[in-house]
Amino acid sequence: MRSHLLNDTTAEQYRRSVTQGVERVAAKLATTDRPFTGVTVDALSPRIDAIDLDKPLHDTAAVLDELEDVYLRDAVYFHHPRYLAHLNCPVVIPAVLGEAVLSAVNSSLDTWDQSAGGTLIERKLIDWTTARIGLGPAADGVFTSGGTQSNLQALLLAREEAKTDGLGKLRIFASEVSHFSVQKSAKLLGLGQDAVVSIPVGHDKRMQTVALARELARCAEDGLVPMAVVATAGTTDFGSIDPLPEIAELCAQYGVWMHVDAAYGCGLLASLKYRDRLAGIELADSVTVDYHKSFFQPVSSSAVLVKDAATLRHATYHAEYLNPRRMVQERIPNQVDKSLQTTRRFDALKLWMTLRVMGADGIGQLFDEVCDLAAEGWALLAADPRFDVVVEPALSTLVFRYVPASVTDPAEIDRANLYARKALFASGDAVVAGTKVSGRHYLKFTLLNPETTTADIAAVLDLIAGHAEQYLGESLDRAS
Ligand SMILES: Cc1ncc(COP(=O)(O)O)c(C=O)c1O
Repeated sequence: MRSHLLNDTTAEQYRRSVTQGVERVAAKLATTDRPFTGVTVDALSPRIDAIDLDKPLHDTAAVLDELEDVYLRDAVYFHHPRYLAHLNCPVVIPAVLGEAVLSAVNSSLDTWDQSAGGTLIERKLIDWTTARIGLGPAADGVFTSGGTQSNLQALLLAREEAKTDGLGKLRIFASEVSHFSVQKSAKLLGLGQDAVVSIPVGHDKRMQTVALARELARCAEDGLVPMAVVATAGTTDFGSIDPLPEIAELCAQYGVWMHVDAAYGCGLLASLKYRDRLAGIELADSVTVDYHKSFFQPVSSSAVLVKDAATLRHATYHAEYLNPRRMVQERIPNQVDKSLQTTRRFDALKLWMTLRVMGADGIGQLFDEVCDLAAEGWALLAADPRFDVVVEPALSTLVFRYVPASVTDPAEIDRANLYARKALFASGDAVVAGTKVSGRHYLKFTLLNPETTTADIAAVLDLIAGHAEQYLGESLDRAS
C-alpha cells in the first residue's frame, strides 16, 4: 500500500497515474459535443449504488474506466459554449496546472511553517487585488472557500465593529436581489430574524438609494443600529451593479460599514474596457471577490478584502500549538490569524499561475468578451417578439421569458417556460438557468464563456421556443 504514498520513491508512478487521468479528461473535452447528456437521477443512481467501496479495484486504469461510467460521461461541462446556466466559468489552463501543483505539494496556508512561499504568494495576490480595487495602503484580506464565506467573514467584521448593546438591534441593508448568503450570514452571526432589511431595486435591478436612505433614517428613529450595507456589484440573477458611490455616501453619513459583494463583478477589476462600472468600490470597508466566477479559475478561488487590516483581528485566535501570540511579535506571517478556516488550500496558486502566464489583461480581455456577447444577446432578445427580456446587462447575464402572442394567461406562460428549461436540460443540447421576476418564471443565460457566439444564443433561443411551443400545443390538446 505504501506504493500509493506520494514521495521520493513513487515520483514515477505519480507521473504515470496523473498523466492517465489527464489523458482521459483531455479526450473527454475534445469529444464532448453537448454540455450534458441529459442523464436522470434515476438512471445514474443505480450505477453509483452498485459500487462496493469496500472492494477496491487496485488498478488506476480500471478505476478511470469506472469513473467514465459514473461521472465523466454524464458530467455537466462548463467549457461547452452552450452551457449558459449558472455562474460557472470555463477554466484557464494555467490555473488547472496550478491546481495540480497545489494538491501534489499540499501546502496548508494556515501557518508559515506549513506553507512558506505559499503564504507570501497569497499575500502578494491579496495586495494585488486590493490595489486593483483601490482600497488604500492599510488594506488586507485573505483567500476563502467562496463568496458565501467571504460575505460571512465581512459581516462578522462589521458586526464586531458595530457599537450595540444587543445583537437583536443590528440591521443589515441589502437589495432585494442580493445573494442569499447575506441572510444566511445574519443567521450564523446570531442576529435577529428581522436583521436583514430588504431594499427595493428599480427597473434596472439596482438598489434604490432613496429607499436605502429612508430605511437608514427609520433604523435610527427606531433606536436600532445599522451594522452594514451590502452593495452588490454583479447580482446573481441580473448582473446589475448597485450605485456604489451613492451607497458609500450614505454609509459615511450614518457611520455604517459598507460591504461590496463583487463575487461576480470582480472580473471588471481586470477589464480593459469596463473597469469604470465598478467606480466607488474603492470606498468599501470590505469586498468579496470570486475569482472562480469571473477570473476563469477552478472552484474554489475567492477572497475577502478589507480597507483596514486591523479589522481582521476579529477573526484572530491564538493556539500554542499553531500560531502562538509571540509569533506576531516575531513577525511570522500566519494567515490563520485572518481566516475563518484553519487548514486551508493554496488556492491562490491558481491565480498566481494565471497572472504569470496570461497576465491580468488576458483575463480582462476574456471577461470583456463575455460582457460584449451579453450586449449582443440583449439586442437579439430585444428585437425578438417571441421574448420579453428584463434588463440591459451591466455584466454578462440575460433574463428573459418566452411570451407567445397566442397565450395571454401568465400562469400558462410560466408553465411553458418551466417546461422549456426542463426539456432543454433533458435533451442536453444546452443548459440554461431560471429565476422569478415579479412573481413570474423567467429563464436566464449567464454568459461566462468567450467561446459562446451570438449564433449559439440564437440557436438556444430557438430550442427554447420549440420546447415551449410543444408544451403549449400539448396543453391545448389536453384541454380539448
Ligand atoms: C453575488 C453573489 N455573492 C455571493 C455568491 C456566493 O458565492 P459562492 O457560491 O462562491 O459561495 C454568489 C454565488 O453565485 C453570488 O452570485
